[in-house]
Amino acid sequence: MALRFQSSAVALFVFLLSVAPPRVSADVVLEDGYTFTTVIDGHKLGVNPYAVLAPPGSSDLLVLDSSGSAFYAVPFPTPGSQESVIKRLSGNGDGYSDGESGSARFKKPRSFAVSPKGNVFVADKGNNVIRKISASGVSTIAGGYSVKPGREDGPAQNATFSPDIELAFAADQCALLVSDRGNQLVRLINLKPEDCARSYPSKFGAASIWILGLGLSCVFGIVVGFVMRPYIFPNTGGLEAARLPRDMEALPNHSGEASSTDTLLRRQRLNC
Ligand SMILES: *[C@@H]1O[C@H](CO)[C@@H](O)[C@H](O)[C@H]1NC(C)=O
Repeated sequence: MALRFQSSAVALFVFLLSVAPPRVSADVVLEDGYTFTTVIDGHKLGVNPYAVLAPPGSSDLLVLDSSGSAFYAVPFPTPGSQESVIKRLSGNGDGYSDGESGSARFKKPRSFAVSPKGNVFVADKGNNVIRKISASGVSTIAGGYSVKPGREDGPAQNATFSPDIELAFAADQCALLVSDRGNQLVRLINLKPEDCARSYPSKFGAASIWILGLGLSCVFGIVVGFVMRPYIFPNTGGLEAARLPRDMEALPNHSGEASSTDTLLRRQRLNC
């Protein structure tokens, strides 16, 4: 009896499966609503896209052609746009030369990362170095002394890494993260502030420098206030600084204004 029930239940299940195959199983969720579109056809453009990036604040896509050792910029496709116009940014066949980005050479670069400023960092696999493409041209930022694989840390030009690395830009830390697969390591290269700073319109830049200046003057004023405090209140006691030898005559006479430090602090607070 139980056996008959079981087999009929299995038969019912198999019947239901054949009528309406499930789109969702326990482990696979097929979510609809996305569309796949080809935006760069390498056959038509004569490039071999190996990796692509969409730099923040740019209307271009950056394409890395590893086999051709070159980098290209392609306008981000917009609805209705037909053919992409591709522009070579740097590299053209295997080699190793820095300088002018148009004539610089790379050797089978495999990974790249871009900072908000638009500086491109390149894992130049064939040359065992890490390169930078910026507005002022191409330079080698790591591995330049050794130019061979290894796993040395230290000054970046002395450092070595495996040929199988992948780069990622860490915006908040202004650093380049290196997945050194060949050495089973994650490594980091600190970048220079000028590699990371976002290029704001000059008006905004001036405003933020002004705000920074105001903030610094506030902090400086408060620090000066606290440093001066023991000298202005010689008998508040307890504080080590208050027992240091001092010459009250050397300080400006505030003519009985007992709360000069507090006034200073209060004034600073008001300004802030
Ligand atoms: C880095 O390499 C250069 C050139 O080979 C060498 O002169 C220098 O001493 C090295 N620095 C360190 C810290 O290893």
